[in-house]
Amino acid sequence: MKIGILTSGGDCSGLNAVIRSIGLYVYRNIKNAEIVGIPDGYGGLIRGESHSLRREDIEGILDLGGTILGTSRQPFKMMTVDVNGKSRLEMMCENYKKMGLDCLFTLGGAGTHKTAALLSMEGCNVIGLPKTIDNDIYGTDVTFGFQTAVEVATECIDRIRTTAESHGRTMLVEIMGNKAGWLTLFSGIAGGADMIIIPEIPFSVAALCYFIAEKRRRGDGCSIIAVAEGALPDTDAKLKKDKRTFIRHELGESTSTAHLAQIIGERTGAETRSSVLGYMQRGGTPCAFDRVLSSRLGGFAGRLAQEGRFGVTVAVSGSNITFNALTDIAGKYKLVNPSGEIVRFAKDIGIGFGDK
Ligand code: F6P
Repeated sequence: MKIGILTSGGDCSGLNAVIRSIGLYVYRNIKNAEIVGIPDGYGGLIRGESHSLRREDIEGILDLGGTILGTSRQPFKMMTVDVNGKSRLEMMCENYKKMGLDCLFTLGGAGTHKTAALLSMEGCNVIGLPKTIDNDIYGTDVTFGFQTAVEVATECIDRIRTTAESHGRTMLVEIMGNKAGWLTLFSGIAGGADMIIIPEIPFSVAALCYFIAEKRRRGDGCSIIAVAEGALPDTDAKLKKDKRTFIRHELGESTSTAHLAQIIGERTGAETRSSVLGYMQRGGTPCAFDRVLSSRLGGFAGRLAQEGRFGVTVAVSGSNITFNALTDIAGKYKLVNPSGEIVRFAKDIGIGFGDK
């Protein structure tokens, strides 16, 4: 059995742990197995590139950040567009056959899964694995990489808090997550944030300023606000994405955070600063939880290949590892439920979400 592995989309901690676990399972349990790594995500498959992944190539990478295969973003909407008479999808299917693959593991996020579903519908034997710090893949309780990012963002909030307390400042901490606020929600709760601003709950600037002003009136000048990269003021929420991007572009901002810090400072008189955590959240060694999760997911995916179950993606359900059909989850997102238990409890203990 010849198996290909690729990692696609934004990197995160745990990718190498998954590659290792797939390899360990396959080399131990499938006779005459051969594994090849495809470089740079779907980019490598489009170009028809691969290299051998021997047992010794994958043995020491459990705790290594990033991906030994490299990754790239290949927009889904471009997959079926003809370039010189052939689409990228056609090129990938051709190369899958040329490489003589019996199975392809695609480690990636929501976009990667959409392309994986297309490949599967075209007859390639695909098994997906749910990767992303955003934790927004539909059909799985958790994705690998998420927990490590939560740990990193929480530690950053803890550190920023000491400066906020020393100076009596309001600190906005921008956390990754464009569509989904999971990372901001979890690290915000873990870091004891006073407010958590996420894309799923558009914020009112007035409500946000009132919350901070009230806190200051009570004699507490230090506030920590965890702001998701994709946080939206309620005035923008009804606008089309293009229009929103245009407004931010006009302001010279790609996110709301710095602008929001300025408005809060002007309206409340609080000394306000912002910090963008950025790619720190994606880099570095996976935490123990992600090492275990990645290993379990990789091993389970190896077993699926052995059993010939394709067109699926591995998922976590409660304490079990299971799988979903790619076509059932592709194109869907798992977002924070604004009236769900986690947000409700957070509000119950006094965390503000900036909604009215
Ligand atoms: O991989 C997910 C993610 O980190 C998002 O949280 C973020 O919006 C995006 O990737 C950033 O992408 P890029 O690496 O292309 O800047």
